[in-house]
Amino acid sequence: MANTYHQAPDAVATAPPGCPMHQTWSPLDGDYLADPYPIAGRLRDDHPVFWSSQLGHLVVTRMEDLEEVFTKPDVFASTNVQDPIYPLCADAKRILGADDFDPVAVMSNRPEPDHGRIRVFTRQGFSKRRLRTLEDYMRARASQLLGEMVAAGPPAEYVGALAFPLPAEIVFRFIGFPQSDDTMIKAWCVNRRAFSWGRPTDAEQVEIADGMLDYWRYCRDFVAERRDRRTDDFTSELLDAWEADPGPERDPDATTGISYREVESVVYGISFAGHDPVTALLCNTLLCLLPRRDQWQALVDDRSLATNAVEETLRFESSQVSWRRVATTDTTIGGIDVPAGTKLFLNFASANHQPDVFDVPGTFDIGRPDAARHISFGKGIHYCLGANLARMEARIALELLAERLPTLRLVGGQQPTYFPNITFRGPEALHLTWG
Ligand code: HEM
Repeated sequence: MANTYHQAPDAVATAPPGCPMHQTWSPLDGDYLADPYPIAGRLRDDHPVFWSSQLGHLVVTRMEDLEEVFTKPDVFASTNVQDPIYPLCADAKRILGADDFDPVAVMSNRPEPDHGRIRVFTRQGFSKRRLRTLEDYMRARASQLLGEMVAAGPPAEYVGALAFPLPAEIVFRFIGFPQSDDTMIKAWCVNRRAFSWGRPTDAEQVEIADGMLDYWRYCRDFVAERRDRRTDDFTSELLDAWEADPGPERDPDATTGISYREVESVVYGISFAGHDPVTALLCNTLLCLLPRRDQWQALVDDRSLATNAVEETLRFESSQVSWRRVATTDTTIGGIDVPAGTKLFLNFASANHQPDVFDVPGTFDIGRPDAARHISFGKGIHYCLGANLARMEARIALELLAERLPTLRLVGGQQPTYFPNITFRGPEALHLTWG
């Protein structure tokens, strides 16, 4: 049977009976991409739960409803979160139908009980101990990239100088990929956002699918090499776990252990999850802080404020503004009847700016006491595995910038542009100056 990983399954795409409908709005609209918050707020105030005809999803906008969805995984499954939002063209399907393209769902889109079985091992990999060992490398590499940016003199383009290379390299070192492969891997991962969350052209789909196939083959070779030669990286840790208990290879109904194919698939999946939203977060912290000189100065004067500045950025201008679920059974949410098979679009942008959850939500305030109440890392059993890694990277980058470039500011007159997709949000370029 052809492999259908990454390919949207059929699902109900009609509005639940009696549900409020919006015929024209789409998260890919130009004005929504430029600034989703005012529109998301109006949509939420009109109808907390409504059907989007453009998207073919039920849109859930309020914090309490999002939390309910996230914490009922048996009713609202995450099996659709990596599916392309629009169907793939035949050529892209053919590429991904290659006999040896056979990753399995392991984390964000794997249902229970297998998700819990696998997460035991991945959680160990993201332990505080391992993150501490990464912190020194992270600070040194961030400092080096920043040094190169400063040496080249202002103005600088921050995505290319630091925000893209740093998170990518951190996650590659975490997995164990050799530094010499960085450029090649980064090229394969480019545009992955478009694939599942955007509306790529047929030619773009083919290019991305080719990259995904190459990258999967690379991951398989890498894991095979590590199987014979362990180090202290995350992949070696997973392979030790596989050797100790190969789970489904021993018994298809195993409740413990991890299979070899699952190890390969975790390696394949984490590199995508682990750098794109962090690149966006690094940029968004500066987009929020630099125009508000009092807040930037407060950070320059007291760099310990960086931790909460990152949380407030994740609330106010998150690098992830939505996620998805699918109803497994007839149910209700926010008073709306939801038939089994209905796909849900969970709107973080509206919930993170909800006035009865956050005081004056439209104000960016790095001193906000409950900034971390945001929903940007999800909630419940699929809560972002890399949340602490992302927080650490963003904090370190801010601490270094505040220390070394206290006069940092945005180049005047630039209008950030956002890659058209329904979920991830960060400027494509960010021009900085100082002195
Ligand atoms: C600012 C950066 C990031 C944001 C905003 C973000 C956001 C999210 C969200 C919303 C989810 C889904 C939660 C749910 O379904 O309940 C998620 C899951 C996940 N994230 Fe992140 N993420 C970020 C960075 C990272 C990093 C750095 C890594 C790894 C290196 C990572 C790995 C994962 C994994 C593996 C999952 C699936 C967890 C599971 O299903 O058990 N993420 N993330």
